[in-house]
Amino acid sequence: MKVGVVGAGLVGATAAYALTLRGSCSDLVLVDKDEKRAQAEAQDIAHAAPVSHGTRVTSGGYAALSGCRVVVIAAGANQRPGESRLDLLGKNAAIFREVIPQVAEQTPEAVLLIATNPVDALTDLATRLAPGHAVLGSGTVLDSARFRHLIAGQAGVDATHVHGYVLGEHGDSEVLAWSTATVAGLPVEDFMRARGLEWTEEVRAEIDAGTRDAAAAIIEGKRATYYGIGAALARIAEAILGDRRSILTVSAPTDPYGVSLSVPRIVGARGVEDTLIPPLPPEEARALEASAEVLRQTGARPG
Ligand code: 2OP
Repeated sequence: MKVGVVGAGLVGATAAYALTLRGSCSDLVLVDKDEKRAQAEAQDIAHAAPVSHGTRVTSGGYAALSGCRVVVIAAGANQRPGESRLDLLGKNAAIFREVIPQVAEQTPEAVLLIATNPVDALTDLATRLAPGHAVLGSGTVLDSARFRHLIAGQAGVDATHVHGYVLGEHGDSEVLAWSTATVAGLPVEDFMRARGLEWTEEVRAEIDAGTRDAAAAIIEGKRATYYGIGAALARIAEAILGDRRSILTVSAPTDPYGVSLSVPRIVGARGVEDTLIPPLPPEEARALEASAEVLRQTGARPG
């Protein structure tokens, strides 16, 4: 069970650390154009292995990816304060044109898990650059986690027992699908009312803003986000490695939207095993279509 991580910046290294702490794989290899950085991160993370699950952590060039079942692609620039994810497309698409063919050549059997932003447009690009490979993006797995975390705070329960999906773009146009959100099997509103908890338009708006603007707020405070996405990437990799058939809002080309975006999908050994577009009330369906339109316009831009 070997996993590769390409790009040993904060997101790639944190994903590698999460994979190591969770014991998601037996072997992990870090690849970066800055070989010294990859080597140093691999050494540092390797020192966590004896006190976690004994994962063998190394670094190397593209050839070292041979035999990987999953390769996480985290190469590229991240947002600066005030920048949107879509602003990164030009520079990160250029990096993908260089990196993806080399990864694909070394790993004909691997599922490519795209983390670099803008993740939806780059999942589309990687799909074209690695024909024959299973490709999926981390999409809104992190946003769905942020949504669940905030609902759990309001409900006063364990966030792992709250469900709910963020759909569409991993970015400013994303859609918090309240119609899919449940606590203890109840729609959120019913749960809150049954427990006598505050549930108003203001509370909903705060959860919406807290989810949608989470990355910008964190970037403002510490220049980057990496713990949340690192754990999300490890979780998606585990679904693939263990053929878990987990339901995760990963990004992939989606009919009828004609672009990569996130909806709930069954994730297993071949990456996306199936797509489950939930029946949505009209306002959520319209918001999802609008988000898809943002992504179609992005894809049509010269990159
Ligand atoms: C995040 O949402 C910046 O896409 C990254 O944390």
